[in-house]
Amino acid sequence: MPDKAKVAALISGRGSNMAALLYASKLPDAPFRLVLVASNDPDAAGLELAKAEGIPTFALSHKSMNRGEHDAAMDKAVRNSGAEYIALAGYMRILGEDFVRAWEGRALNIHPSLLPKYPGLDTHERAIEAGDTVAGVTVHLVTAELDAGQILGQTEVAVLPEDTPESLAARVLFAEHQLYPRVLADYVSRPFDAAWLLDQVRVRAMDLPEVEERPSHGAPGWRTGGKSGKYFAYFSDQHHGEDAIALLAKTSGIDEMTALIERDPDAFYRPAYYGASGWVGIVLNRPGADWEQVEYWLKRSWQAVAPKRLTKLLDAADEF
Ligand code: GAR
Repeated sequence: MPDKAKVAALISGRGSNMAALLYASKLPDAPFRLVLVASNDPDAAGLELAKAEGIPTFALSHKSMNRGEHDAAMDKAVRNSGAEYIALAGYMRILGEDFVRAWEGRALNIHPSLLPKYPGLDTHERAIEAGDTVAGVTVHLVTAELDAGQILGQTEVAVLPEDTPESLAARVLFAEHQLYPRVLADYVSRPFDAAWLLDQVRVRAMDLPEVEERPSHGAPGWRTGGKSGKYFAYFSDQHHGEDAIALLAKTSGIDEMTALIERDPDAFYRPAYYGASGWVGIVLNRPGADWEQVEYWLKRSWQAVAPKRLTKLLDAADEF
């Protein structure tokens, strides 16, 4: 089991979603823990709850500060806490581009509508006015465009004929409290999940020219060059008692493989059997696995085994 993922929750008020995350994090096997609750409102009720539960807090009013300065101060507090992820939980400030870019892929938000319907404010009022029979909640990744990032999870909530925005909001909130901890748990677990890691490798391998996937000794593998093709990559899910879930790729030989391992022993290892012929293991189930590095090695390995007629094509494409 990897260490629990460290999460900072950003709130602006009541903080009931933060509380849902906090108590979910106390359940056995929770894959995350809260390391900070931060607010742009020093009077946010959620701060008191966090303090009572022993979670460090940070508060800084945005009044009389410009957006950039305030974002930078929040960013600093979050970094100082050691957080790896941010969960926006009723944080009612729009975050600037710099902040969003710095946390791309690591910041989640909960929004009380079925996005892409009703981004922004007054979601329940708008759903009722439109005569919708279902409303709901969305957890999504934070991007520069408001409430528009990749959707990670949604729950529908029935709209009752007599609903007011308040009565609907109250029921949607039940759904919020169930959805957010589940989606966050799944999201922070993904980098250690073999099925997810295999998918990531597969799309990148299949993106290279003339590749087919074919299992080799029960492990997924990718070949190029048609009928008499050769393997250029294998996916190893803790084979031979190893800890790593890894991509195996072909280096120029034992010397290069050894040098890579010496330089970065967290990222590379000598795989059983394959290591003897200069294949290196690239560890995927580790915090901050480098997908550009994975792409680089898939390509290098492909180039090492692909027939000339194919490498020529890729070389030509590289020149542009
Ligand atoms: C929640 O309903 C959340 O979905 C919403 O604010 C409320 C915060 O409640 N967020 C947004 O509208 C974001 N645009 P909480 O402080 O009790 O979690």
